[in-house]
Amino acid sequence: MAGRVVLLTGATGFVGRNLLLREVSRGSRVLAVVRDADKLRAQLEFEGLSPTCVEALPQDPALWPRIEPTHAVLAAGVLFARSEAAYRSVNVDWTLRILSAIPAGCATVVLSSQSAGGPTPAGLPSRREEHEDQPVTWYGRSKLDLEGRLRDTGRQLAVLRPPMILGPRDSATLPLFRMAGGRVRPKPGLQTKMFSFLDVRDLLTAIDASWETGFTGSAYVASGELLSDAELVAEAAALTGGKGLSLPIPHWAIRAASLLIDAVPALREANPSLTRDRVREILHNRWVVSPERFEQSTGWRAQYSAREALAAACDFYRREGRLPPRQH
Ligand SMILES: NC(=O)c1ccc[n+]([C@@H]2O[C@H](COP(=O)([O-])OP(=O)(O)OC[C@H]3O[C@@H](n4cnc5c(N)ncnc54)[C@H](OP(=O)(O)O)[C@@H]3O)[C@@H](O)[C@H]2O)c1
Repeated sequence: MAGRVVLLTGATGFVGRNLLLREVSRGSRVLAVVRDADKLRAQLEFEGLSPTCVEALPQDPALWPRIEPTHAVLAAGVLFARSEAAYRSVNVDWTLRILSAIPAGCATVVLSSQSAGGPTPAGLPSRREEHEDQPVTWYGRSKLDLEGRLRDTGRQLAVLRPPMILGPRDSATLPLFRMAGGRVRPKPGLQTKMFSFLDVRDLLTAIDASWETGFTGSAYVASGELLSDAELVAEAAALTGGKGLSLPIPHWAIRAASLLIDAVPALREANPSLTRDRVREILHNRWVVSPERFEQSTGWRAQYSAREALAAACDFYRREGRLPPRQH
């Protein structure tokens, strides 16, 4: 959109890449705060775009030229780390530093997470904004701390709390597709787990809705559809042609594996997302949130089903050559 100047953090990540492409296609001027400009350039080339369609800014705002963004999305974040300090340094401290360099009048959306609230309170169908926040991980605590510090600034911001995000340009679901295509499909826990989810394309329209309506405050954004762990694996298997058997793994075994992985450097590198911190989330069976507050405030509704989100993720992995082509 001509005249719109959009500042993004996390532009080389899953959500940020999708956001960047949408804003470039709309004709916005895009300023991307990145720590690796070569990675950004390679991603733009992969999408068939000229590297000059985006202006890369360094991580340190003191080095920025004079800029006047009209809109901003702070999407950078550390999702998997092995110390609380590693989460806090980016998710809280660096994010606040970036915010302080953005003019107060800039329409800003900050991405928090469902993890800031924690699992669904026992006996309730879904977690809502009025429920007491009870994060169970360092990751969730870092997001909750960020939200508190954002309130302290007194700025008018939209803080969105998505659940699991699915769709094109994700990396986190690649192991799911690989596992679903195999003979044995390990499933964490003996009981069914239920999740909210959000297609990344719906997150982009939620960001638009925040900008357009001037929504401020913190809200869950999610699809109205729920997804069980068995459905998640079955959908991924249907897309990859997998015909394996589900193997439930007891929680104690997952916790033991995470402790072992945390202790052995080579295993840590091979399993970046299985940390003893994030395992605390796996141990809960219900991660369902209600998007009602955001829907009523903005008129926004998620449009994409879990099947469509997973199909788009799978197609993208195939385009990247990270999954084998579809068998006919
Ligand atoms: N994905 C989900 O399911 C989900 C769910 C709820 C909330 N969220 C939140 O949504 C946001 C986007 O998530 P995502 O899935 O897009 O994450 P992602 O794919 O892991 O991307 C994270 C982005 O943050 C950047 N980043 C990490 N550490 C940084 C640092 N020290 N300095 C500057 N940039 C740094 C990464 O840069 P590099 O490319 O250089 O590593 C990357 O661009 C995050 O705030 C996340 O907490 C995600």
